[in-house]
Amino acid sequence: MCGIIGYVGTDEVVPVLLDGLRRLEYRGYDSAGIAVMEADGIGILRAAGKLRNLQQRAYHEPLHGTVGIGHTRWATHGAPTEANAHPQTDSAGAVAVVHNGILENYSSLRRELLAAGVELESDTDTELIAQLLGREDGPLSERVLKVVSRLEGQYAVVAVHHEEPDVVVAFRKGPPLVVGVGDGETLVASDVTALLHRTRRVIYLLNGDVAVIRRDGVRILDADGGELERPEETLDWDAGRVEKGGYRHFMLKEIFEQPDAIRNTVLAYLDQERCGVNLDGLGFAPEDFSKLRRVHLVACGTSWHACLVGKFVIEELTGLPTEVDYASEYRYRAPLIGEDVLVVGVTQSGETADTLAAMELARDGGAMLTTVCNVRGSSSWRLATSRMLTQAGPEIGVASTKAFTTQLVAMVLIALALRAAHGRADETDCELVGELQRLPLAVEQVLAVDRELYRRGTEMLGDATDSLYLGRGILYPIALEGALKLKEISYLHAEGYPAGEMKHGPIALLEEDFPVVAVALNGPTREKLLGNLMEARARGAAVMAVAEEDAEEVHQVADLVLPVPRVHPLLQPVVAVVPLQLLAYNVAVELGHDVDQPRNLAKSVTVE
Ligand code: AGP
Repeated sequence: MCGIIGYVGTDEVVPVLLDGLRRLEYRGYDSAGIAVMEADGIGILRAAGKLRNLQQRAYHEPLHGTVGIGHTRWATHGAPTEANAHPQTDSAGAVAVVHNGILENYSSLRRELLAAGVELESDTDTELIAQLLGREDGPLSERVLKVVSRLEGQYAVVAVHHEEPDVVVAFRKGPPLVVGVGDGETLVASDVTALLHRTRRVIYLLNGDVAVIRRDGVRILDADGGELERPEETLDWDAGRVEKGGYRHFMLKEIFEQPDAIRNTVLAYLDQERCGVNLDGLGFAPEDFSKLRRVHLVACGTSWHACLVGKFVIEELTGLPTEVDYASEYRYRAPLIGEDVLVVGVTQSGETADTLAAMELARDGGAMLTTVCNVRGSSSWRLATSRMLTQAGPEIGVASTKAFTTQLVAMVLIALALRAAHGRADETDCELVGELQRLPLAVEQVLAVDRELYRRGTEMLGDATDSLYLGRGILYPIALEGALKLKEISYLHAEGYPAGEMKHGPIALLEEDFPVVAVALNGPTREKLLGNLMEARARGAAVMAVAEEDAEEVHQVADLVLPVPRVHPLLQPVVAVVPLQLLAYNVAVELGHDVDQPRNLAKSVTVE
């Protein structure tokens, strides 16, 4: 959601803040702002719209100082106007605050402040925090300790006070904050991508922590003001990985990074000698795995699609009944959890609020809790007792691509580990392990396909306002994912459906300008799917299919085939999704949309 950066150092702070915000812009971007500790008080600049609007203001109205805070906003309370942009201040302009999250007692705090005669200047919950801090006495950290107990909901806040020009105070409950420890400078941000170009030494703040940040380091306090120790970690991501590297968009770069991302994920966990999975050091104990009788997979969005594939893979390889839930539903129902259940929270960011809440429910119910996550040290990483890191590297494009394909690989790896723990491993595992190792080459082949085919596919979809994506079996989640990718970045309406369901409703929509995209790889239900495609054609719909190049029967039914190589049936989702990612990307570019920062979306959804 929103992006936060804070800096206490010796460099001019405005370029540092703007650079940090540029790296965070993908999280939320309807307005932005900075606060700088100037010689005569706090200087504030805010602008609605894209970051470039703030950059222009900063050029024309320069602020000077070496300490400051900045924010990119994804609106929750109040429209995305300049008045509602952060930083927000108290009425005296003594305190400035940036905030990610939502205050649930917003209405009562607002009533209380208005009754006390405070004139509020924005519709935000953030201003309430600034006003509350302004009404307390003492050093900023003491004010924070007094105010924090009055805040209900989810928040990551970074604040400054004009009487302490060398201090930034950060505190959190819910959305993440990470401190970057540099040489003579200390930073704080909502996301490590904003720190990487200055330091790789980081300290993750935990819920309830209050961090007092100065040039020479950070003191972390608990709710009573007692000092806490938090470990410093060194990140293995380098700054170059969060640059576009010559590609027009992050999304395109990330699509093309998939062979490496998959290779790294496979290599990290494969035990070639045993034809199995090596989970040493990750907290998975084979004896614990052997006690498990059921699996629950919980996630949101694209990660939920990975779980749907995971159900097919885990049930086929292990025989363990596997349920898949939207995390936002799981957290509010009464799932049957127990010690024999493995609950897997699947999340690229590790910060999705609903997924974290679902995982907490599972932990409290006594389940074995694990996470498949792309960000080491994130909240899901800390919450889980065992963890599998997808090795996709930083994913900046809002539309998830390489994180998804590595999640699919992780599902196979977890299934192989469970299978071995349940004594079901046999020689067929070696075949699957070999195919996993060849998978990056298969994805490279998909990426090398003639661009002309994508140009034709783009024409078919870009000229229509609606489309239907169909698949069956393990490939029906890929139809859902293909449709989601198109919606997210092209703003064209697309429905994903299991093909067998088409006749139960969606067929009513089909006509000439309503194309069908089928995920039609070889398998036991392909004949059935081809039957569904014939039905669609009979209604005048154009048909595009993802299928193996030599699949004659698909070529006979489809107007256009996007070819993929033949792979192991459990790995088909990985090769099948790549053409759909490229298709969505090309349509969005053709329509002139901002591919990396689609409207209304945020990379990491840290509020409900
Ligand atoms: C993916 O393209 C989406 N932006 C979105 O559905 C995403 O997958 C979802 O918000 C879950 O995020 P997570 O994997 O970081 O938990």
